[in-house]
Amino acid sequence: MRFRDSLSLLDREGKLTRVREPVDPRYEIASRLRRLEGTPVLFENVVGSDLPVAGNLLSRMDLLCESLGFGPEEWIPRLSEAMAHPGPVSETEGAFEYLEPDLDRLPILTHYPKDQGPYVTSGVVFARRGDVRNLSFHRLCRIGRDRFVGRLVEKRDLHTMYLDAREHGEDLSVSVAIGNRSGVLVAGATSVARGEYELGIAAALEHGIEVCRARSNPTSYPIDSEVVLEGRILHDETTREGPFVDLTNTYDAVRDQPVIVVDRIARRKGAVYHALLPGGNEHRLLMGAPRTPTIDRSLRAAGIDVVQIHLTEGGSGWLDAVVSIRKHRESDPRTAIEAAIRGHRSLKKITIVDADVDVTDPHEVNYALTMYWEAGKELVLSDTKGSSLDPMATPDGTGSKIAFDATRPLSVAPERRLKMQRAEPAPGV
Ligand SMILES: Cc1cc2nc3c(=O)[nH]c(=O)nc-3n(C[C@H](O)[C@H](O)[C@H](O)COP(=O)(O)O)c2cc1C
Repeated sequence: MRFRDSLSLLDREGKLTRVREPVDPRYEIASRLRRLEGTPVLFENVVGSDLPVAGNLLSRMDLLCESLGFGPEEWIPRLSEAMAHPGPVSETEGAFEYLEPDLDRLPILTHYPKDQGPYVTSGVVFARRGDVRNLSFHRLCRIGRDRFVGRLVEKRDLHTMYLDAREHGEDLSVSVAIGNRSGVLVAGATSVARGEYELGIAAALEHGIEVCRARSNPTSYPIDSEVVLEGRILHDETTREGPFVDLTNTYDAVRDQPVIVVDRIARRKGAVYHALLPGGNEHRLLMGAPRTPTIDRSLRAAGIDVVQIHLTEGGSGWLDAVVSIRKHRESDPRTAIEAAIRGHRSLKKITIVDADVDVTDPHEVNYALTMYWEAGKELVLSDTKGSSLDPMATPDGTGSKIAFDATRPLSVAPERRLKMQRAEPAPGV
């Protein structure tokens, strides 16, 4: 569903909060989004900009799935299917107006007091180098009227394309799309094999995607993105990026990162700017949700009878997973722990529970852990590959992991059987 249609649908359903009084893109919108977590908001009157700002649109799993036309229980099979079978992408004419590269025209938010400056956080970068295309999210800090410094995580596809361009003394062509269909946002957060193009995933989730060619470079981008910044990642200029509050609500390290110059702004009539709150629900959900199918695939490949997978809010939707399984062998929890790590290397904490535990309910999970864990049913790893977002890890993401087996034993001595059981009220009374 197009970004603006998601807004209209939420409005019709009475799920959209409209803020009519003037709001400041410096701190105020971010603070209000934080206070209204889980509620989609449209700020109609933004100081210094003629564009309204929308946020918290996909700040709950039910909202994300609804915008894609299915229920949350279908998330893993639908995304797995989209990853296996890309949808159709067709090229057509766009209906954009093209403006000079003046970033003052956009309501770019400054989110937190210690941030480096105003950041575009919902931008999906469409890159092209020869035949290789890629799309992924990259935060961009505005450092001039027509320029940003962007965060390119090492070894991710955009970073590899940038290094290749740099080696050849060339800039990398990009278009940064803001205000995208949910399928494009999900695709932007999904990793596929190097050389494959994620747009096919968006097209499968959205039943087809239409793109148009950029005016100023060889990239193309969806015709229904609200605003697109056509530009280049410079091969010969880097500068300091950060501080920036990341997914974990802690400040990411400050690093030297590439400078991006904007050559043209493409804007749809009546454009709405998408504000994505760093460290907020929408950020966590978009980042983590595409990993559940990869964890699921890895568990199934290891022969685990998986029931549910949940990346917890407490773990910022990225570092902490709870997996419920139907246990057939005493070794299953340990096998599941190892498979979950293979499926998502950034995991720092993993809890394996029985099938009757609701993995999305922290009290249930804590109950299972407290009742059924005992010494020896855990795995502790140090100096291991994890996430650079873990505040306790080294900047390259070397850190620790802990995993718990909180499942009941399969065979229990008769005298302990009742003690292991969770009592249920008498039925039908
Ligand atoms: C909201 C959001 C913001 C993100 N910001 C960045 C970022 O600034 N830099 C980065 O390298 N990855 C960022 N990511 C992660 C990438 O988009 C994601 O890992 C993607 O799968 C990488 O794709 P690739 O397979 O093309 O490398 C972000 C993800 C989300 C959901």
